[in-house]
Amino acid sequence: MQNKPIGIFDSGVGGTSIWKEITSLLPHENTIFLADSKYAPYGKRSREEITRLSIKNTKKLIQLNCKIIVVACNTATTNAIKTLRATYNIPIIGIEPAIKPAAIHSKTKRIGVLATKGTLTSELFSKTSDLYTQNIEMFEVVGTGLVELIEEGMIDTEEMLTLLQSYITPMLKKGIDYLVLGCTHYPYLIPILKKILPEHIKIIDSGEAVARQTKAVLVTNNILNTSNKLGKHSLYSNNNTHTLKDILKAHTTNHTIEFLGF
Ligand code: DGL
Repeated sequence: MQNKPIGIFDSGVGGTSIWKEITSLLPHENTIFLADSKYAPYGKRSREEITRLSIKNTKKLIQLNCKIIVVACNTATTNAIKTLRATYNIPIIGIEPAIKPAAIHSKTKRIGVLATKGTLTSELFSKTSDLYTQNIEMFEVVGTGLVELIEEGMIDTEEMLTLLQSYITPMLKKGIDYLVLGCTHYPYLIPILKKILPEHIKIIDSGEAVARQTKAVLVTNNILNTSNKLGKHSLYSNNNTHTLKDILKAHTTNHTIEFLGF
């Protein structure tokens, strides 16, 4: 059981930002990552569609013998995690925008959240917001088009810079001091965001917290891989594999990237 892989999925390539955190915190774990890029973006889809796709991915990871599932997608988590947990008897970890730390540490008491429509309109997001934003103002912006550009590998482009500026400028005018990245694709935009954001504004995402939570759940369930060999990692895309290969080209982990129909 302990040698079985951790199964991780996202609507596309973005969830590799979480995969990187998990493999660096847990270097002896084997992993399987599914990029459901054929059906990206999830953010525009209905709750029913997001749930159906999340079930499809979870089923595939269970078939591939995974011991635990990490939903490396805010949109899938906020819309489908309840159904996934009710359907499958396997530990399932999700990711939500890091509103809590941003709200606690904000000095201006104004924070910005950039996420997909699917996340920002979900019940889970509104419950979490109610819990942590009583004494602060939160500005939510839908990052329309960002995931599409990232999926096409058009990260460091003029088009991306212009689009990001149009989303960030109104939040800056409101006086935010924290920007929450509520989509696992967005950490790949941090270098461009740093060109737009004044230095005092902090960017925050949930990647490290999810990796820590994954470790805690493995320990609690006594399924942490105790081997001292480095883990093996299989990453699959059901679309072309170019973007996945491109964004991980500087990554030196023991990983393979292949096409898989699912
Ligand atoms: N990476 C995703 C998230 O964290 C989903 C993006 C999308 O497919 O719209 O929300």
